[in-house]
Amino acid sequence: MANENKLQNIIGHCKEYGFVFQSSEIYDGLSAVYDYGQLGTELKRNIREYWWRSMTQMHENIVGIDAAIFMHPTVWKASGHVDNFSDPMIDNKDSQKRYRVDHLIEGFAETLDKEKGEVLLQQMDLLLAENNFDGLKQLIEDKKIACAISGTCNWTDVRQFNLMFSTEIGSVAEEANVIYLRPETAQGIFVNFLNVQKSGRMKIPFGIAQTGKAFRNEIVARGFIFRMREFEQMEMQFFVQPGKQKEWYEYWKETRMKWHLSLGISPDKYRFHDHAKLAHYADAACDIEYDFPMGFKEVEGIHSRTDFDLKQHQQYSGKKLTYFDTDINQHYVPYVVETSIGLDRAVMMILSEAYEEEDLSTPEKPDSRSILHFPPMLAPIKLAVFPLTKKDGLPEIARDLIDQCKPYFKCFYEEKDAIGKRYRRQDAIGTPFCITIDHQTKEDQTVTIRHRDSMQQERIALSVVKDLILEKIKMF
Ligand code: GAP
Repeated sequence: MANENKLQNIIGHCKEYGFVFQSSEIYDGLSAVYDYGQLGTELKRNIREYWWRSMTQMHENIVGIDAAIFMHPTVWKASGHVDNFSDPMIDNKDSQKRYRVDHLIEGFAETLDKEKGEVLLQQMDLLLAENNFDGLKQLIEDKKIACAISGTCNWTDVRQFNLMFSTEIGSVAEEANVIYLRPETAQGIFVNFLNVQKSGRMKIPFGIAQTGKAFRNEIVARGFIFRMREFEQMEMQFFVQPGKQKEWYEYWKETRMKWHLSLGISPDKYRFHDHAKLAHYADAACDIEYDFPMGFKEVEGIHSRTDFDLKQHQQYSGKKLTYFDTDINQHYVPYVVETSIGLDRAVMMILSEAYEEEDLSTPEKPDSRSILHFPPMLAPIKLAVFPLTKKDGLPEIARDLIDQCKPYFKCFYEEKDAIGKRYRRQDAIGTPFCITIDHQTKEDQTVTIRHRDSMQQERIALSVVKDLILEKIKMF
């Protein structure tokens, strides 16, 4: 399937089956804002849960918090976001359309052959690293990169544009203060560093994890839930002794890549991309890129953030943020290695990986099925139970089985339509296991289990169903 088609098909499938909807769709939608439907919400929760447990449950020295979205405005001054969290933008004078310079050039590079595209991206990376705005404009003009709307190359100069959303806090206009919607969850961790370290008696090296909403006024938002204005991050800040950040950076690169591979995704669908231009807080940084239908794109960032954030908060708040290390008898401001993955991007990665239009045609009959090959632990519904008919006591047995299983995992009951149709509907939403209760069940207490990917069916004892599914969906 051509890749552009694949993306369009995934978007259509997500809408049809209740995974993702355009926000405020009845009002023609809100650009780059999406709502998760009944199945998308379950999928997203499962991915979040897998990340959370991988970080906190599987690492004794990582704890989780849930900081507020609103933070004191000085946080964003200290973190550098007020002054530096901006992207170079360029406007087309004819269409008045504004573009992020890197997205404009990347979009053009995708239309070139692979080698030429890579050379262009290297040129862009160099200019971005030097903050050479004149050079970037020149590159856009030299390559005759045109606006998608006006079709012209009539560009303004390249300018910086801050990505933070602001709002007001306070009841009366005169008293109101401008505050920002957080553009990353990380700062909630930094400002709570000592609270957690002291109350949890944490010893360095240790980490603080958090999941939550972040907001960015992305100028060019495209690629479905890949780039949104309201999105969710899953971040972990790992506090280490100064000088040890390089080794921990390598450790977290490897550990995070292992997490990605544990999703059953092949290593050739991933690559590391080292940042040519480091953010204002980093001494090393890379992305984990996944091969989305639109090509390799960032799904996660690993950043060695030095002691920048804690030192800045120390300076702006006037409060000490040092740690006394009993191993070396020294006070210091810890260094930080961060892992930061976008939850919505992870959802999109899992959907891209799972979606397939499978051709099941035989010489006699054309046939196909839509299928989502989710890893069982992430599937929104783990088990569907079907009585073969609506009578003869079969629905009662099916309901009993669901009652047994539903405290442990999400089940689905259906008695309408032929079994084959019911199987296909579950394939389309990624349910890994279906159980059919038939007349034989009444005689020998066995049922048919049908496996989504292989479509194989086998007869098993009714009494083992719950434990068998629990074994298949376990995370660790
Ligand atoms: N605290 C570091 C930080 O925020 P980032 O590379 O800007 O670093 C981390 O963002 C991750 O958040 C990205 O790898 C991506 O998965 C996700 N992300 C960033 N902007 C996003 C957006 N507009 N929509 C969806 N996900 C986004």
